[in-house]
Amino acid sequence: MSTPTQDRRASQQAQVLADPTAYADDARLHAALTYLRAHEPVAWVDKAPYRPFWAITKHADIMAIERDNNLFISEPRPLLAPAETDDLAKAQLEAGMGLRTLIHMDDPHHRGVRAIGADWFRPKAMRDLKVRVDELAERFVDQMRDIGPECDFVTDIAVQFPLYVIMSLLGLPEEDYGRMHMLTQEMFGGDDDEYKRGGTPEEQMAVLLDFFAYFSNLTTSRREQPTDDLASAIANGRINGEPLSEVDTASYYVIVASAGHDTTKDAISGGLQALIDNPDQLARLRDDLSLMPTAVEEMIRWSTPVKEFMRTATADTEVRGVRIAEGESVYLTYVSGNRDEEIFDDPFRFDVGRDPNRHVSFGYGVHFCLGAALARMEMNSLFTELLPRLESIELAGEPELSATTFVGGLKHLPIRYSVR
Ligand code: HEM
Repeated sequence: MSTPTQDRRASQQAQVLADPTAYADDARLHAALTYLRAHEPVAWVDKAPYRPFWAITKHADIMAIERDNNLFISEPRPLLAPAETDDLAKAQLEAGMGLRTLIHMDDPHHRGVRAIGADWFRPKAMRDLKVRVDELAERFVDQMRDIGPECDFVTDIAVQFPLYVIMSLLGLPEEDYGRMHMLTQEMFGGDDDEYKRGGTPEEQMAVLLDFFAYFSNLTTSRREQPTDDLASAIANGRINGEPLSEVDTASYYVIVASAGHDTTKDAISGGLQALIDNPDQLARLRDDLSLMPTAVEEMIRWSTPVKEFMRTATADTEVRGVRIAEGESVYLTYVSGNRDEEIFDDPFRFDVGRDPNRHVSFGYGVHFCLGAALARMEMNSLFTELLPRLESIELAGEPELSATTFVGGLKHLPIRYSVR
């Protein structure tokens, strides 16, 4: 077993994980991750403006850590943020404001809060919602046809479709959709020059407070006049007979509204680019739409919209023989887990028929993505509508990825196409 001093020598290759621009450069990122999986699967990263952490790059270790949710908990550091932002977020919460979403919480509180929204994402609810999702898929493919022969698939289609789905489920008025999208982009795009509101942690925090203000008003109105939507279920949800706190209610809305569309947009646009880059796979899927479920999983593995989540050790422990001290944080590199050669046959091949496909794009364990079935259904509807109507498609410019360390994917995907 290696000694703590050796372990804590900051890994040269792993520094890439503390560099948001690396996520905008697939070749650079994957070269580093492939090296780490082979040589330093548990690597120490110590790079400003972040507090140090352990980068975990093997699929089996990511799963084992997520499974052990007593030893590895989400509080106080569920994702990678600059130290100053972490401190500001903590201070906001202590002042009774700020964000504490499901991904920030641990059981038993997490379990109670999750249960409040869970019914809205179960198979029965998905079947009820399918008609609306199919209608929206048709509407956006029609729109694609009408604005052709060129568009930016990300901004024109991939953003809009999941945004409409999740906003309909929440029950928000259409005039607010644009505002929700802007706030989401600013929140997840804090490291990207095109998306961010400003460079300082205070400006980032202001984005969260805007979300908070909008949703506090929503809570009040849904408590006074409940309607038949997810927003009312959240506003009126109870744990042991008590309503959720203001912070927990507003935070619930924020995670559903933001995670509910931005991630799916990344999987849809990353999936389309993979089909364009692999014309044999596009032809195979178009000729056999029964492959859609495996194709959708492969698009989700390929794009890995959520790059990481973190956990903090509650006791001294070891991962792969490396000592992790109580209070230290581990960074679960989903992007790397999804290219692990020990799990995936030829992991850098995009294969619409890949089966099994044990990707970790939705995480694992008690925090497993609440909206996974919804995301799968949306992608299935959109590509099932699009592919039979797609006569030709090619890139019309350079695709552009966002800089991030958390949620991200294509910002622009210029395409030239013909849709019937
Ligand atoms: C392809 C699209 C999506 C991806 C890749 C994705 C990914 C993830 C990941 C990685 C997690 C954390 C899992 C963990 O820590 O083990 C998560 C949690 C979550 N996701 Fe998604 N997600 C997607 C779509 C959605 C949608 C459509 C919704 C709809 C509301 C949603 C809502 C949530 C919520 C509420 C959580 C927190 C669950 C918890 O902590 O208990 N996600 N998602």
